[in-house]
Amino acid sequence: LGVEPFYGDHQGGIATTPQSDAYFAAFDVVASSRGDLTDLLRTWTQAAARMSAGLPVGPPTGFAAGTEPDSGDAIGLGPCRLTVNFGFGPGLFSQDGEDRFGLASERPAALVDIPAFFGDQLLADKVGGDLTVHACADDPQVAFHAVRQLARLGAGAARISWVQSGFNEAAVSEGTPRNLMGFKDGTINPVGRQFDEFVWVGGEGPAWMRGGTYLVVRRIRMTLEHWDTKPLEIQEAAVGRRKESGAPIGSTNEFDPLDLQRLDGRGQLMIPLNSHVRVAAPASNGGEMLLRRSYSYNDGVAQQVERWLPYENTLLYDAGLLFCAYQRDPRRGFIPIYRNLSENDLMAQFTEHTGSAIAALPAGVPRAGAWVGQALFGVA
Ligand code: HEM
Repeated sequence: LGVEPFYGDHQGGIATTPQSDAYFAAFDVVASSRGDLTDLLRTWTQAAARMSAGLPVGPPTGFAAGTEPDSGDAIGLGPCRLTVNFGFGPGLFSQDGEDRFGLASERPAALVDIPAFFGDQLLADKVGGDLTVHACADDPQVAFHAVRQLARLGAGAARISWVQSGFNEAAVSEGTPRNLMGFKDGTINPVGRQFDEFVWVGGEGPAWMRGGTYLVVRRIRMTLEHWDTKPLEIQEAAVGRRKESGAPIGSTNEFDPLDLQRLDGRGQLMIPLNSHVRVAAPASNGGEMLLRRSYSYNDGVAQQVERWLPYENTLLYDAGLLFCAYQRDPRRGFIPIYRNLSENDLMAQFTEHTGSAIAALPAGVPRAGAWVGQALFGVA
């Protein structure tokens, strides 16, 4: 199966046509010296480049020296369009006020701590991370294999904090894949020059972030049992689009324009005031957009209290959306748009945000021998 280029102006897995599977991992850095941290990034870059080409990772050096070179579970599977991108979380720049790696003054203003939102149900063990690694591939084993090799190569320098796998059936679905609520997800996203306006960091800097972007990940559980009891009309009103076609309510085709002013025969808004697409649309958010590149997740069932009468404590699905948004500045993208959604979106009645991370993703690695984020460390 296909190969996605590892080297380039931007990291992979952002503008890349979405693959069908993802494995996201947030790491805590346990290395104590700046040299150990840069060794880690160099090692990870080389390994990611090899795996993107369908090659096993080479023999480990440094921390993991003396162990087997590659776990071998991706032998024969090919590259499967693997992309791996790396991000720097707030904790890399300072932790509990401590400037561990001499990077505190380099923290970009746009790398803010994600504020609390109305309705948050964040789990302490699914929040944050000093480094993020996001592998996407057209095969779940290839995506997991990539993160697994990196975790092993980084042993002693970085430790997994939390992970989430995901899938979206991009390989088999016709057109835009559906999320677990049954709706096409990813219809409206930046295209063409909108990437420069809304996704890639420009001259506003810092220089090492130019051509990079900011990732916000949210693990969003869907209350599927509750959702599945709702009539189609209510589901469609919550989203603002038709389920089968993906068309805006009142239109026929998925890519028909979203006309937020349109009235029905009774003079009511065709796309309800509190529908997800109306509240999320650029027209309701000062023209802002973000790139959504989400995956579904399915972690079985868990004992939970229902959010509806009679509030039974019972086994419920732990499944939903691994929401991934890339944007030029989260202070203009995710944060205000989701603040608006968390307060006004009818669909939010059927979701719970349980995990969260934010990271600065530097520009792409330009060539073999270079490593991700090296300009942050003053290496030309
Ligand atoms: C489980 C959670 C979510 C589900 C099931 C969901 C589902 C959807 C669906 C079905 C659409 C319409 C099709 C499309 O344009 O892709 C949509 C659009 C959109 N969603 Fe979500 N979404 C979720 C969470 C979020 C969050 C947390 C944000 C935060 C910013 C967000 C932002 C957007 C935006 C910006 C659009 C495009 C609106 C437009 O311009 O028309 N969504 N979403």
